[in-house]
Amino acid sequence: MGYENVLVGDDHGVRWVTLNRPAKLNALNRALMAELGDAVAAAGRDDAVRAVVLTGQGDKAFAAGADIAEFVGLGAADARAMARAGQAVFDAIAALPKPVVAAVNGFALGGGCELALACHMRVVSTTARFGQPEAKLGLIPGYGGTQRLARLVGQGRALELLLTGATVDAATALAWGLANRMVEPAELRAAAQKLADETGAVSPLAAARCLEAVRIGLDLPLQLGLEVEAALFGLCAASEDMREGTAAFLEKRPPRFVGR
Ligand code: COA
Repeated sequence: MGYENVLVGDDHGVRWVTLNRPAKLNALNRALMAELGDAVAAAGRDDAVRAVVLTGQGDKAFAAGADIAEFVGLGAADARAMARAGQAVFDAIAALPKPVVAAVNGFALGGGCELALACHMRVVSTTARFGQPEAKLGLIPGYGGTQRLARLVGQGRALELLLTGATVDAATALAWGLANRMVEPAELRAAAQKLADETGAVSPLAAARCLEAVRIGLDLPLQLGLEVEAALFGLCAASEDMREGTAAFLEKRPPRFVGR
């Protein structure tokens, strides 16, 4: 698939997917969402890709939300279908068995905030701004914002953003746990690449199982989550990567993981 709204490139096993509608602050229209879904799926299938970074083109926005121009004349059934389609793309990002880092380079509003939330970790520049301003438009978030935001930062902070439509700056996002790391704008690319590289140094199989255990476990009572963890621990113990990782430690050499 040739892309018009996303740019795709690789940097030492890290797949960079860049939202590319800077004149519209990378607003997520249908065409971009389809390309984003396709690009993420392709990254998931490619064994040479160890981790993914999502970012926005330009120095102003990660993404300023769903494309408001596409809301005009939207009926209830169409809007619901649009939300479900967007949720499916973001769910696929959240469920990718490889680490996905959002490099948030400016506004992450509405769907842009939801996209950052669907990623596994967030590195943000000091210029980043997060918010869910949909209620100001007479809407609510439709791509997971009412669910993932509260899970990540807690009910009170999530409702503050949802009910006021206000934005929070990068330092607040860091203090709330919405951001993992905050750096100067000029250092964002290197910082996101570094985090992705660090996740690429562990066993790809173990990374996939960690992502699975946390993702599934967050929706379960603790005792069931622990059952899931034990089952995945068992699967890891039967892997080549576990034999290699433990042997490498005992032989005092770096491991050579194969991902199985
Ligand atoms: N959908 C469609 N177009 C958008 C957009 C969105 N979510 N966000 C920005 N744009 C467009 C603007 O319409 C403008 O296009 P134009 O130059 O053709 O008129 C362009 O991007 C630049 O945006 P502009 O508003 O001029 O930039 P700004 O610096 O004055 O303001 C924001 C930046 C982010 C505060 C402002 O664009 C904004 O509030 N965007 C909408 C945020 C939102 O409500 N998102 C949730 C959507 S559900």
